[in-house]
Amino acid sequence: MKKKLNIAIDGPAGAGKSTVAKMIASRLGLLYVDTGSMYRALTLKAINLNIGFSEKELVRLCEDLDIELVYENGECRVLLDGQDVTEEIRTPKVSQNVSFVASIPQVRENMVMRQQLMAKNGGVVMDGRDIGTRVMKNADFKFFLTASIEERARRRLIYLKEKGYDVSLSDVIAEISERDDIDKKRSVDPLVPAEDAIIIDTTDLTAEQVVDKMLSYIKI
Ligand code: CDP
Repeated sequence: MKKKLNIAIDGPAGAGKSTVAKMIASRLGLLYVDTGSMYRALTLKAINLNIGFSEKELVRLCEDLDIELVYENGECRVLLDGQDVTEEIRTPKVSQNVSFVASIPQVRENMVMRQQLMAKNGGVVMDGRDIGTRVMKNADFKFFLTASIEERARRRLIYLKEKGYDVSLSDVIAEISERDDIDKKRSVDPLVPAEDAIIIDTTDLTAEQVVDKMLSYIKI
């Protein structure tokens, strides 16, 4: 039997990765794997346990972290210790700390191993920061989505307002710029396009237009 496709989607915060990854997965009958949710779940657990953000504690916590990605009506839900935390991992408190947590080499090693297991049999659309460069170096297709910082912040602001958070555009610009900066400068697997990634600037495109563009490259 022919192995199912693996598709890697990387890029900075708010470039539209998760929206288009879900759409592509549903069109092609693949599973959407949100790798950021795993780093977010670890961050949430550290916050809930009130253990601070010491590297040593985070590495220990990561080793026996019980995270599961489950699928309900095509949606990827995140379970932490058996509890659905899909909404909670997107709170500003988690967003403000996740990039530090994700910069710890041993945390990354652990998460990458889990993600590689998920991709082993093919059939996934995975989004993150290091999918094309590390987790799925042999992906059949690699995309790197970008957009201007203003547009990325505007998209994130709409999402946060819908969820009832009282934040301003400048707060969001500050948060995602800081996160991008940490993600680009970290020592292990920084945010950078894979050499063989197709780069798409989504600033002036709708999600549908981005998906159409991506599908035009995907020849099955
Ligand atoms: O949805 P958004 O783009 O805001 O972020 P996310 O995909 O949920 O990822 C949250 C954070 O996790 C990123 O800013 C990175 O610091 C980290 N991350 C990572 O280092 N590697 C990945 N493969 C995915 C996320």
